[in-house]
Amino acid sequence: MRRGGAEPAQDADRVRAADHPHALPPPRSRRQPHLPQKPGRPRPGGTPGRVGRTVRFTGRVALVTGAGSGIGRACAMRLAAEGASVAVADINPSTAAETARLIAKNEGTAYPFTADVSSEDDVRAMIAAVLEAHGRLDVLHNNAAVLSREVYGRDLGLTEMDVDVWDRTLAVNLRGPMLCVKHAVPHLPPGSAIINTSSVSALVGDTDHAAYGSAKAALVSFTRYVATMYGDRGIRCNAVAPGLVLTEAARRVMSPERLAEKAAERILPDPAEPEDVAALVAFLASSEARCITGQTIVIDSGTTAHRPEHALRNWTAQATKPATHA
Ligand SMILES: NC(=O)c1ccc[n+]([C@@H]2O[C@H](COP(=O)([O-])OP(=O)(O)OC[C@H]3O[C@@H](n4cnc5c(N)ncnc54)[C@H](O)[C@@H]3O)[C@@H](O)[C@H]2O)c1
Repeated sequence: MRRGGAEPAQDADRVRAADHPHALPPPRSRRQPHLPQKPGRPRPGGTPGRVGRTVRFTGRVALVTGAGSGIGRACAMRLAAEGASVAVADINPSTAAETARLIAKNEGTAYPFTADVSSEDDVRAMIAAVLEAHGRLDVLHNNAAVLSREVYGRDLGLTEMDVDVWDRTLAVNLRGPMLCVKHAVPHLPPGSAIINTSSVSALVGDTDHAAYGSAKAALVSFTRYVATMYGDRGIRCNAVAPGLVLTEAARRVMSPERLAEKAAERILPDPAEPEDVAALVAFLASSEARCITGQTIVIDSGTTAHRPEHALRNWTAQATKPATHA
């Protein structure tokens, strides 16, 4: 189930600082005063007392995994818009390069990195390359997850499940964050933050996606352990648990019927956009959240906040609406 089938030597080659340096403008660290020349100079946790899109991450470096699309791309762009220099990591080199290009187009600073987060060789090399390219690391956002048809799409009934589906899901969605924490923590200064992308699938059961939900639930526990283990170093660790976010991946893996069911399950009319999750991630990464650690924050438009009858009433109301109002 290993993607790409690359040999270890080729894996190491795939992970390089600025994999696509020529696709980007010159590194802004050479021409932007807000990138620190010496690690440790900015106040840990960012500038206190100043809240705004341009100041919270000035002089800080963020690594976002799975940043080539969807929620990860929105988070990378938000952190960059607020002044962070962003390491854009993904298993897909072209989408990582595209996110970095979009950030550069918005006058931000970014380097793309290619890594499979389930591979320790890749993660070790990625963290080393990020430190070499950016000089420091303050925010680690473990966002990558496998949502392909071949894996998530086959995460169905347990009795028929191909065990490779289970293994690959846990390898990317749980082992990946563990490897990134393992190799990043020694380099994180006081005031830094780790954010894990969990899911409401961690909190409720369903008739399919047991591997995905179990990995995301383990991530909630992992978040508490990391927070407890490294809190004395001034490192915080929190998780976000989105409900449905209408990314391309979500549309790809969900039938129109399932999307309609999800709509009936919400209290609020609209699902979260990737940018809503990015705003929450940016808050948790900032010094405004300096006393929050070990928590999982649900962002689901109320999907998990009510009794099942609410969804049933919504569903019935939708089903009985005249077609012209649908
Ligand atoms: N979209 C939703 O409704 C939703 C809901 C709850 C949680 N989430 C979580 O949010 C995160 C992002 O989801 P999304 O909807 O943006 O999906 P997405 O598929 O757009 O993003 C996932 C990214 O991870 C990358 N990736 C996959 N395997 C990887 C690996 N082994 N190493 C490195 N990168 C890898 C993919 O290439 C992709 O760019 C995931 O953790 C997902 O579980 C999404």
